[in-house]
Amino acid sequence: PEPGWTVEADVIVVGSGIAGLTAALDMRSRVGRVLLVTKDSLSSGSTVWAQGGIAAALDPADTPAAHLADTLTAGVGLCDPAAVEVLVTEGPRRVRDLMKRGAQFDRSTDGSVSLTREGGHHADRIAHAGGDATGAEISRALVAQLEQVRDDPGIEVIEHAQVIDILTSSGDVPPQKHDDERRVACGVTLHVRGEGSRDGIGAALARAVVLATGGIGQLFVSSTNPSQTTGDGAAAALRAGADLADVEFVQFHPTVLWLGSGARGQLTLISEAVRGEGAYLIDVEGNRFMPSVHEMAELAPRDVVARAIVRQMEATGEDHVLLDARHLGKEFLMSRFPTIHARLLEHGFDMTQEPVPVAPAQHYHSGGIRTNAEGRTTLRGLYAIGEAACTGVHGANRLASNSLLEGIVFAHRAAADIAARMSAGELPQRTPEVRGGHSGLVMAATRTRIQRAMTKGAGVVRTHESLTTTLDVLRKIRTDADVPEPVPGDQSVLPQAAEWETTNIHSMASALALAARTRTETRGGHVRSDFPETDDAWLRRVVIRLDARGCL
Ligand code: SIN
Repeated sequence: PEPGWTVEADVIVVGSGIAGLTAALDMRSRVGRVLLVTKDSLSSGSTVWAQGGIAAALDPADTPAAHLADTLTAGVGLCDPAAVEVLVTEGPRRVRDLMKRGAQFDRSTDGSVSLTREGGHHADRIAHAGGDATGAEISRALVAQLEQVRDDPGIEVIEHAQVIDILTSSGDVPPQKHDDERRVACGVTLHVRGEGSRDGIGAALARAVVLATGGIGQLFVSSTNPSQTTGDGAAAALRAGADLADVEFVQFHPTVLWLGSGARGQLTLISEAVRGEGAYLIDVEGNRFMPSVHEMAELAPRDVVARAIVRQMEATGEDHVLLDARHLGKEFLMSRFPTIHARLLEHGFDMTQEPVPVAPAQHYHSGGIRTNAEGRTTLRGLYAIGEAACTGVHGANRLASNSLLEGIVFAHRAAADIAARMSAGELPQRTPEVRGGHSGLVMAATRTRIQRAMTKGAGVVRTHESLTTTLDVLRKIRTDADVPEPVPGDQSVLPQAAEWETTNIHSMASALALAARTRTETRGGHVRSDFPETDDAWLRRVVIRLDARGCL
């Protein structure tokens, strides 16, 4: 649609989770004007829900090399070792930066940062805050920093601003191998709800765009993610011509509170740290089943535990297993996991007195917008960081608590790269070419149908047939239900936010199902019951990009 207003900046950061906030704060005073836009309020999004913690080799007995080894093992051969090296070696410094920015991590009696263990880690390296409210504390500290500089003309924040499309220009870029490689990102279109003069559809123009828009939880019927996670950044990047990678790798968290098969929306996570402190997984008969599955038992990598739970549920005919933490003691559980304890009580479960029903549910997207180690995507001027990005550090399965770490490490690197390029005179301001990104919007009313088709056909266990059925449903929705584009210049009848979102959900669902059907093996977070083995021929990435007609 035609923008009704325009705002200019040097850099636009889209998203206000750990990655977006870090990038904006790091770039402040280094790149001229930073504009941070966020779909809801500054402190909404996934970061604030993160429980377990942030992984980094902070203990003198631990090493980045050991963290690297655990990350590579969890990623089942598909991590980019160079990117992981960056993550684990720069990680400890970035966690200390977070502390300098005011994040208060839990301390041991000797004053050192208290570290716990989670699945796939061979050392205690998970720093946590408020017991099990790590993300909330990190978000609080970073938002507080940003609030302090709100009246700095070098930084502007627009809340309730949903990104619609990435604006591009072919400008004066030297010719590349083919036309698409000449394109440069030079801004975004936004749909802003209720920000005074910045209301309705507007354009934000900049020399660089940083997408930090988070994950894709809303592709599925239920997820641990909040409602904002509709893959907006990744879908916009795809439409603008950037590559996505590893999109088939979806992490299903093993221990999500099971509230019956009809449960929808955001579900209650029970942190892996509960198992890290010694809780057991038991079947409905009360038997532990993980020790016979993996030498690390309940602390095996997350994909191994999730798969074992699914097998156990199939064997018992039940749709959940149980998490038993009673032996850890009431006092310990209430002080170490106050948030989880309170949330479970709200649902009528007292983890100090009874085993709690759990089942795997969608939790994290290991793939996303393909980037290098500086956060650069394959579209010039466009960066991606945090869960929206695929830096290569997660491979087929993310190691527990590496996501907050990835957020700060690569946000910092992207910010440094942008600042360096700008001071070298790279990334000049360009004028966007008017061209429609969307070829029609998908009706919001189809969201539930998409989520059901994805959960059934592209969920924890997939087959060629299930994925084909899902793709057929998605294709039919696209054909049946396109919403007409708004009339240029006429903002009187704008699509609802839910329609932009559902269109993004639809695009990402299609990309994911296609990539999952392409990968004919089982690896990490991608389980194919028709191809149950891990196959070395698949030690490569599935890359998704649109063809010249704009199709997958
Ligand atoms: C958890 O607390 O179990 C989640 C941590 C993560 O997703 O890394």
